[in-house]
Amino acid sequence: MGRPMTVSIATEPKKAEQRTSPAARDPHRFVNELDDAMIERLIARLESRGKDEVFTRLFARYADKLSLPKGSEALEIGSGTGVVTRGLAQRADVRGRLTGVDQSPIFVEKARGFAAAEGVTDQVAFEVGDAHALPFDDRQFDVVIAHTLISHVTDPAAVLAEAYRVLKPGGTLVVFDGDYASLTYGYTDSESGRAMDWALARATFNNPVVMRQLPDLLADAGLTLSETLADAVSEIGQGSFFRSMAETYAPLIAKGGLSRQEDVDAWLSYQREAMDSGRFFGACTYYSIIARRPG
Ligand SMILES: C[S@@+](CC[C@H](N)C(=O)[O-])C[C@H]1O[C@@H](n2cnc3c(N)ncnc32)[C@H](O)[C@@H]1O
Repeated sequence: MGRPMTVSIATEPKKAEQRTSPAARDPHRFVNELDDAMIERLIARLESRGKDEVFTRLFARYADKLSLPKGSEALEIGSGTGVVTRGLAQRADVRGRLTGVDQSPIFVEKARGFAAAEGVTDQVAFEVGDAHALPFDDRQFDVVIAHTLISHVTDPAAVLAEAYRVLKPGGTLVVFDGDYASLTYGYTDSESGRAMDWALARATFNNPVVMRQLPDLLADAGLTLSETLADAVSEIGQGSFFRSMAETYAPLIAKGGLSRQEDVDAWLSYQREAMDSGRFFGACTYYSIIARRPG
């Protein structure tokens, strides 16, 4: 009998890992350093995604679980153009006050403009602030929402500690984001396709796999995990959500030194052709992780 085989497995870092390509810069993390053209592109992407049928369905899944009667207060951290906070304001069961906070003064200004246009300014307010050091009192909010924020922040543990601080005892935190190790586009050569999927994830998200680190991070922050909703987002044949994702973020792959420009161009034109001819495949798993500050 031969000797038992020894398998060496590289261990994952226990805490939220830091970015592995120093050249790649998550555009949402560094939003205040972007040029006007990229800012406009992100605003358009956030607004179209927020109204996309797939995303509104995922948003409704966790919003249905929240209780926001008159007199209650909710905070969205990393509220961008405010599409999620405005979506909450438009729900008949949400009667409380809603505040959105974002690090980008341009996004906050846009969010205020959209809220005025939709006639919800008596219920919602937007402020500039950093999710790592929130400009709010301890125990102020009944609900805190981080909707596609946590994958972009510098230090997820510090952001969760702040969410804990501003939540009332018994209050609810919702962290909604993708697990971008599952992000995948169909491609002729599946190995190069998987490499491009990962390059896209690393170019776009400061921490593409933070959702699988959340059980650990929430426990460390003193928050109790109460429920998880999981959804496979997929577009087969046609692509709209994944088209906007590829068009917005693929240009960052070569810039970040994660692949050669010609390989990105070939991949992107394959995706465009596949979408235009009804032969597209794109998928990613998204989670709403709901936790509570113990009462
Ligand atoms: C992908 S966008 C999501 C926006 C919004 N939640 C939505 O779903 O439409 C991420 C947002 O997080 C913001 N952000 C990133 N890091 C932040 C931080 N440290 N503090 C506050 N906002 C931050 C960005 O400015 C951007 O608006």
